[in-house]
Amino acid sequence: MRRVGDVWKRGDERIAEFDATALAYDRHRPRYPAALFDGLVAVDGLKAGDRVVEIGAGTGLATSDLIDRGFRVTAVEPSSSMAALLAAKVGKRAEVTVGRFEDVAIEGPVSSVVAFNSWHWVKPETGLERLVDLLEPGGLVCFVWTEVISWGEEPFAQRLVEVSGQPWHRRVREIVRSKDAVELDSRFTAVSPRSYRFERVLDAHGFVEVTKTYGGHFSDQAVTGVETLINDEFDGAVTKVEEATAYTYRRL
Ligand SMILES: C[S@@+](CC[C@H](N)C(=O)[O-])C[C@H]1O[C@@H](n2cnc3c(N)ncnc32)[C@H](O)[C@@H]1O
Repeated sequence: MRRVGDVWKRGDERIAEFDATALAYDRHRPRYPAALFDGLVAVDGLKAGDRVVEIGAGTGLATSDLIDRGFRVTAVEPSSSMAALLAAKVGKRAEVTVGRFEDVAIEGPVSSVVAFNSWHWVKPETGLERLVDLLEPGGLVCFVWTEVISWGEEPFAQRLVEVSGQPWHRRVREIVRSKDAVELDSRFTAVSPRSYRFERVLDAHGFVEVTKTYGGHFSDQAVTGVETLINDEFDGAVTKVEEATAYTYRRL
């Protein structure tokens, strides 16, 4: 099994995959609950006009919500095709910087650095020191990861394994550990994590397409098997339940 903390080492390979599948990613990945962004204002105290750096903004699934809260966003994204989609969406409303968080030039200090399902791709020691350098005293770090709570109505999870012939991981447990570099550092103090549950009804095509965006190889046979399963045994759609958890830290 891959060691916790080593995930970022596969970064080059994964960025290339994100680059090749940017459109599908944008079309099929879930958006984040509005309440999560409201919490950044109401609970964490961010306010309109604050400078916010977004790490690994992808195609901008969180960026527009950040802009809508009035934040001045610098979105950092190493995949050029994802960054192009993002830039087309946000226009002049945000600054888009192509590159890795570890490498790009960003002028500080900033009020907040946020990362939606992306912090685990950043080299831990370099990323931590960049956070320390960039953030103003009292500045906020927010890491978000999304976990699957249920793939669909019972017994869908069990049938998925049988039909696809492969395990269906809840990989988030492994990657969330990348927050420990900040959590254990005496220059930060942790605020309680907050979780936001949401669900989507997915037809067979939607279920398979979003699954592919998480990487890993699915044979044509597995894909057909899962589509047939949803169509024949679940009336053509399943309700996938997920939870986005925001882990926030304050720079002392
Ligand atoms: C799972 S996607 C999340 C995208 C977006 N935040 C979202 O929620 O849809 C992870 C993103 O992190 C980016 N990424 C990978 N390594 C990175 C790094 N070292 N610095 C910044 N972003 C990185 C990838 O290119 C990809 O767009």
